[in-house]
Amino acid sequence: MDIVKKSRGRNLFFSTDIEENIRKADIIFVSVNTPTKTYGSGAGKTADLQYWEKTARNIVRIAESDKIIVEKSTLPVRTAEAMERILNTMNKGIHFDVISNPEFLAEGTAISDLENPDRVLIGSHETDKGRRAREEIVEIYANWVPRDRIITCDVWSAELSKLVANAFLAQRISSINSISALCERTQADVKKVAHAIGMDSRIGSKFLNASVGFGGSCFRKDILNLVYICEHYGLHEVAQYWESVVKINEYQEGRFVKTMIHAMFNTIAHKRIALFGFAFKANTGDTRESPAIYVVRKLVEEHARVVITDPEALRNAEQDLKDLHEYVEFEPDPYKAARHAHAIAVTTEWDQYKTLDYKKIFENMEKPAFLFDGRNILDHQKIHEIGFNVYPIGKQSLVHF
Ligand code: UDX
Repeated sequence: MDIVKKSRGRNLFFSTDIEENIRKADIIFVSVNTPTKTYGSGAGKTADLQYWEKTARNIVRIAESDKIIVEKSTLPVRTAEAMERILNTMNKGIHFDVISNPEFLAEGTAISDLENPDRVLIGSHETDKGRRAREEIVEIYANWVPRDRIITCDVWSAELSKLVANAFLAQRISSINSISALCERTQADVKKVAHAIGMDSRIGSKFLNASVGFGGSCFRKDILNLVYICEHYGLHEVAQYWESVVKINEYQEGRFVKTMIHAMFNTIAHKRIALFGFAFKANTGDTRESPAIYVVRKLVEEHARVVITDPEALRNAEQDLKDLHEYVEFEPDPYKAARHAHAIAVTTEWDQYKTLDYKKIFENMEKPAFLFDGRNILDHQKIHEIGFNVYPIGKQSLVHF
């Protein structure tokens, strides 16, 4: 916000006059939405490109001079080719260079990711014109990003790298989540396993937190896109390999709910269950693909009474669960949410949940009181000593019976 305030009116302008700004621009960054297609061929897997195509057609219609078009949206590989055809067919004597510059920002850390990126990737056609256009974009980033972090390549490799980066990140989570299931059955602790393997510098320690599952607008969408592309090229084994990352995520969400039901004597009908967190991760109100959505729906199917608390995501939660308002309550105060509850399920790793007064919460709950930590953020030993029956992810449960 501070950055916007400082620059607004100086070299940052907001406008809804698309025509005028297309006409004036030398470089256009296109960051339109590319959600998963919900209809027709490829529904549920491939990206819906209608917004991108409309934008491309608008640019062609309005442009009066040569332009560099930079695609920032995540697009399935080889789309730039189609876009380029649209841009260059209505030959008004104008030339368009299409550059792929995929976005690697994560929510909640977008500004620091932008200011200090691991890498910036810029893809273009390997033609003289393409390389010149690419160099112009490199020059922009070189104002604050060290040159050795700016990678240039062909358009297809750049587009594919974005999908593959997200697929690899999600794969790490599914890998550790699959191991969490094994840890729960044996005497191992997934946190210790993650720590031990993460010390191997070839593996690295990041993105190894076992959880109720990954969410967010990118991971599932991008993997399914990758799967779709592989299937398109007849690479069925490769498609299945990556699809299994999504399947393990679904398995993990399902396992979390099954553990809850099983622990609570195989019935949760009419039991009040407090969900701590609804956002797909901490420090955002975004609930897209949040594992909490699945958890609530399953609990309601089992006739539980669910009360959701979250510091930022309640408004989105209300939207996501419009059809369940009869069965679900939304309560900003976690203490009130847990009052008279049989169980608490932690589904988002908000810091504030680590420092709540669990003794006070325990006193106001039905007994036996259960706590299912879907993010492994709480001090399980301490909470067990208070009186809770505690079920972490990937670790032995701590129970009183
Ligand atoms: C992701 C990529 O990180 C980013 O580079 C890309 O541009 C967009 O997609 P984002 O969706 O904002 O970013 O969230 P991220 O921090 O990657 O987390 C995704 C999900 O994985 C969250 O639900 C998070 O809670 C979960 N997660 C993450 C785990 O369960 N365990 C981990 O160890 C890390």
